[in-house]
Amino acid sequence: MKLFKMHKIKIPKNRLRKLKTFTLGQKPYELQNLNSNKIKNRLVDLCSNDYFGLSRNDEVIKASHATSLSEGLGSGSSRFISGSRPIHKLLEKQLEEWLNKEKVLLFPSGFQANIAAVQGLVNRNSIVIADKFIHNSLLVGVKASESKLVRFAHNDLKDLENKILKFKDTKNSILIIVESLYSMEGSIAPLREIVEICKKYNVELLVDEAHALGILGPEGKGLSFDLSGDITMITGTFGKSFGSGGAFIACNSKIGEYLIQTSGAFRYTTALSPALAAGALKSLEIIKCNKTWGINLLSTSKMWKKEILRNFSYPIRGDSQILSIIMGQEEKAILLQKHLEKNGFLAIAIRPPTVPVNESRIRLTIRRDLNLVILKEFISVLKDFK
Ligand SMILES: Cc1ncc(COP(=O)(O)O)c(C=O)c1O
Repeated sequence: MKLFKMHKIKIPKNRLRKLKTFTLGQKPYELQNLNSNKIKNRLVDLCSNDYFGLSRNDEVIKASHATSLSEGLGSGSSRFISGSRPIHKLLEKQLEEWLNKEKVLLFPSGFQANIAAVQGLVNRNSIVIADKFIHNSLLVGVKASESKLVRFAHNDLKDLENKILKFKDTKNSILIIVESLYSMEGSIAPLREIVEICKKYNVELLVDEAHALGILGPEGKGLSFDLSGDITMITGTFGKSFGSGGAFIACNSKIGEYLIQTSGAFRYTTALSPALAAGALKSLEIIKCNKTWGINLLSTSKMWKKEILRNFSYPIRGDSQILSIIMGQEEKAILLQKHLEKNGFLAIAIRPPTVPVNESRIRLTIRRDLNLVILKEFISVLKDFK
């Protein structure tokens, strides 16, 4: 009873979230509603991170199925116990070659990879200087590492430099953490300049490429690719543009070996499912063969942004496939989410504490399979919102 009291939810009622259920609709971008009839039966998915629709791609599913049959659905245990499967080694090798990195190490999820990455690079004697908008998993990693956390204003190079200057004469090691493409803002980090600052002060840099991988950078290799020699570690996930699940850390072989020997998040977990690894490998092959998909997706997104701005006075943020229609008040963002749901679009209201107070928004994730008819319909539905 005491324990229950301790765990009483203290979240204000209007911020409690409900889990909804959807299954796939017939069209590649469609979800089918299995909830109340306040939501339309079929919805255009404007909220998942399956940017290329690869989670439903026939070749990807076939590869995953074939590997399930030969290797089993799950790995059965940690790679330290029952060993790696050939598909783990193959996927790691292919990623090492694609990203030109000495070592790639797989993880069951990006959340876990980020915790492992931070814990691998810092300890209680370190200072982490992180962008204000980094993902929760990186913050959990900082907490687990017991290092001191200092935040700098989003994408603000001057503030980053000031924060480094404040600590550079201490004995503590310093790690900078950024995302290349921020998941809530759709903003892109000035990575080249950040790398220069890190080099100037001789500090380490960790870049989370979760949303950029497959889309941004040369042939979708991420925004770190050209700067990779000067970046200590990158993390990426297969749960977004790769349409699978699981994730990886890419680094030099020395750090890679250190992680293998010391990382609890790597050692004490059931290895990435062979089926997901095989799906991710097939997606990698498809992305490699379709070098313009990323660029095309960005132009589609640009068109959505232009059309929304042409028709409405809402501010829009985002320089990528992630766009945010800023509504300000939470209630307004929720009302718009409901209006869209009623009219066939699934796009989620993002509210505090995920984003700052008075910056509640509808976040749109643009997919490569959206067409002009859908955009026109979206504009028309938005026009009806009072
Ligand atoms: C920036 C960022 N990093 C890491 C993750 C975690 O990745 P995964 O979904 O593979 O756990 C996410 C997912 O939401 C993310 O947006």
